[in-house]
Amino acid sequence: MVFHYKWYMFLIMKCGEQLDQGADHMNEITIRQAQTEDILVVESILFDAVNWLNEIGQPLWGADEVSWDALSRNYKIENFYLAYSGGNPSGCMALVDHDPFFWPDVNKGESLFMHKLAVTKSARKSGVADALIEYFKKQGTERGIKTLRLDTHALRPKLRAFYERHGFVFVKIKIFAGDRHTAFYIHTLPDSVLAENKSSWNKMADSWFGVTALPTYGCLCPNEDELHLFPDLNGKKVLDIGCGSGHSLKWCGDHGSAELWGLDLSGRQLENAGKYLRDNNYKPKLFCSPMEQNPGLPQDYFDVVYSIYAIGWTMDLPGTFKLIASYLKSGGIFIFSWDHPFMHCVEAKDGQLMFSGSYYNAEPFSFQKGGNPVTLLNRRLSDYINALADAGFSVERVVEETDLAVLEREVEFSSDYYAPSKAKQFPLSLIVKAKKP
Ligand SMILES: C[S@@+](CC[C@H](N)C(=O)[O-])C[C@H]1O[C@@H](n2cnc3c(N)ncnc32)[C@H](O)[C@@H]1O
Repeated sequence: MVFHYKWYMFLIMKCGEQLDQGADHMNEITIRQAQTEDILVVESILFDAVNWLNEIGQPLWGADEVSWDALSRNYKIENFYLAYSGGNPSGCMALVDHDPFFWPDVNKGESLFMHKLAVTKSARKSGVADALIEYFKKQGTERGIKTLRLDTHALRPKLRAFYERHGFVFVKIKIFAGDRHTAFYIHTLPDSVLAENKSSWNKMADSWFGVTALPTYGCLCPNEDELHLFPDLNGKKVLDIGCGSGHSLKWCGDHGSAELWGLDLSGRQLENAGKYLRDNNYKPKLFCSPMEQNPGLPQDYFDVVYSIYAIGWTMDLPGTFKLIASYLKSGGIFIFSWDHPFMHCVEAKDGQLMFSGSYYNAEPFSFQKGGNPVTLLNRRLSDYINALADAGFSVERVVEETDLAVLEREVEFSSDYYAPSKAKQFPLSLIVKAKKP
């Protein structure tokens, strides 16, 4: 059905004519918040999209759903953002801070939700949708929000691939109104999360002095003296990702490493690490940076890069693994340890271990650590292994083991997060060794 198509096309052109006056860059995409006088422009863009989708046999919304009459029941005009290409209206989206219908569990103001992303027929494949998504992320960051959310038609693979290309992570599918398959996506905004995590780690640093460090890999699991994952470190250059208080770097130095390099998000951790290592006659090179970025580390340089209970803090696992691969020499080794992925969904309660959450849950979760707010992302084993493969690594060993001493002794049931009674049933920590070919 073509609903007022010609009239709306005329309107788009008229608006464009007005906006064209003085516009030098015909292909430039600009985005701005809509105002009351833009109601017709919003409608015109959405009608144009409705008609185009009908034309190609992929209807998404009914024309009656995108009239301002209908839209105004759920949106204020300021919720809309308009894209202009070469001065002509070319796309729009609505951003709201509450979506009780699709996301009833998310409190108002906790996330930013995108609805009604639309691009006009004439502007398709010109980057307008990409520009709107980037603007969505910018809005989230400016508003200090950690998570962006959207829902989309689950049976539209191209649309879903588009959101996934922009870093949105699929969460679940739900079926509404009989057969409306809806896919839910989230995107965690790294800047907001990293700023909070950094501030919390600065406050916790003094009480995390040497807590998890080599030869220990994690909780109630075998250590390096038993596993022998590291190569001979004599004369080797090593880099510690999330080096904390520097105790693991000292272990490498004590095993003959020629160069000790460390990176950590927390300046306070690095002050402690620097002092501790200098007191032990080492001269480390320490970088204060999120592991998601390269603060100037050399490429193809290190024999070993490792991360002891820090890798899970990254907001961008694939990107971090690619950076780590770039720091390593060919033949270099990468070893990391972190909570086993079962830890986020198995709960110990009433004498039993039970699945209390979904293994698939990719939602970021925020909690208080030592009284400080932090946010982490849940990941599956496949997320780690696939990210290693995508970064070009070959996996040499995956360790999912509990310390023999724990397995052999009688233990009381406990609901503690790192309880031995849990460790008797499944590994609490995951350790992976990979090689750069
Ligand atoms: C449990 S501690 C690791 C202890 C350390 N590996 C050791 O051997 O002593 C986790 C560390 O990760 C750091 N961290 C958290 N998020 C980070 C990020 N995005 N990038 C780099 N480091 C991060 C924290 O500041 C903290 O020092």
